[in-house]
Amino acid sequence: MSALGLDVGTSRIVAARRSGADNSYDSQLNAFVSVPYSKITAATLLRENVPHTVEAQQILVHGNESEKFAGLLNAEIRRPMNQGVLDPKEPDSLKVTREILSRMLTPAGQEKSRPPTKVCFTVPAAPLGGTDSLTYHEATLRQTLEELGFEPTSINEGLAVVYGELEDSNYTGIGISCGGGLCNVCLAYLSVPVLSFSIPKAGDYIDLNAAQVTGERANLVRLAKEDSFHFNGFFADKMQQVIGVYYDDMLRSLVAALKEAFARTSSLPKFNRSIPIVLSGGTALPSGFRDRFEKLLWELEFPIKVSEIRLADKPLYSTAKGALTCALSEA
Ligand SMILES: Nc1ncnc2c1ncn2[C@@H]1O[C@H](COP(=O)(O)OP(=O)(O)O)[C@@H](O)[C@H]1O
Ligand SMILES: [Mg+2]
Repeated sequence: MSALGLDVGTSRIVAARRSGADNSYDSQLNAFVSVPYSKITAATLLRENVPHTVEAQQILVHGNESEKFAGLLNAEIRRPMNQGVLDPKEPDSLKVTREILSRMLTPAGQEKSRPPTKVCFTVPAAPLGGTDSLTYHEATLRQTLEELGFEPTSINEGLAVVYGELEDSNYTGIGISCGGGLCNVCLAYLSVPVLSFSIPKAGDYIDLNAAQVTGERANLVRLAKEDSFHFNGFFADKMQQVIGVYYDDMLRSLVAALKEAFARTSSLPKFNRSIPIVLSGGTALPSGFRDRFEKLLWELEFPIKVSEIRLADKPLYSTAKGALTCALSEA
């Protein structure tokens, strides 16, 4: 197959491929743990087919298996990315990113294709009002993919959500991806990005702050959140109540940023019809998320006419799906 969509997220990397008339998705946690090197550990991991890299002093277990190992060994989960971009403070980030990508994109025994497969990978937008440079992150991913034998192009993450979910409105509307490190937003008009930005509050923000208040580890908060958090509930459980507070805080920041971004953009196209908003990403999964977002948006008197607000069909895969649409259009 000559095209691949790749969502490189803070928490998860998702690859999308076209298989027949459908898409297939493959996802790995963008995480790793380091265990001390020993010959027997290396041999055991190999026998069990656990994805890992062997070094002189340590063995790095990465991807989906890292979570289990962190639990078993009481080891710290480490992550190559933070807040949407490669973490310059994590010394092993490049090595691990390269390993995870290599295993996901070039299964063992598969030859590199000639001409090279097109890969479209997602990059976050700059923070609203900020000037953070995304150049390092984007250029490094591009280089890594080239070294692995691909022909990479990049796409803004919010725009990928529009490509993935808003075909029926001719790629006009607002795509929002609420992930681990960031929420990414893009308004597109007939497939052209008009306005995009990110905010640094998303799943990790909720986990870290709820952890601080409850005195629990952030990873435990995350598991409790993913397992049972929902909106509009009465919280018998202290932890769920605290998670609710920070979820609300995140959503308020998101809608406030939307309003501010639209207010400061003077060149908005004159929409002659109302436009849809689509919500995606792991943080959009809890039941009631869409309704809460809608309520807060109306409270703020959003300046653009909105036809509908909907949750993506497969929120964890929207971005990769849109990146694949982009790669296929150029293949
Ligand atoms: N069922 C769930 N309920 C609430 N949050 C979830 C759920 N599943 C995943 N998440 C959260 O979604 C975030 C990851 O979403 P994802 O879209 O994969 O992010 P990224 O693009 O940053 O890798 C994490 O903060 C994770 O805790
Ligand atoms: Mg993502």
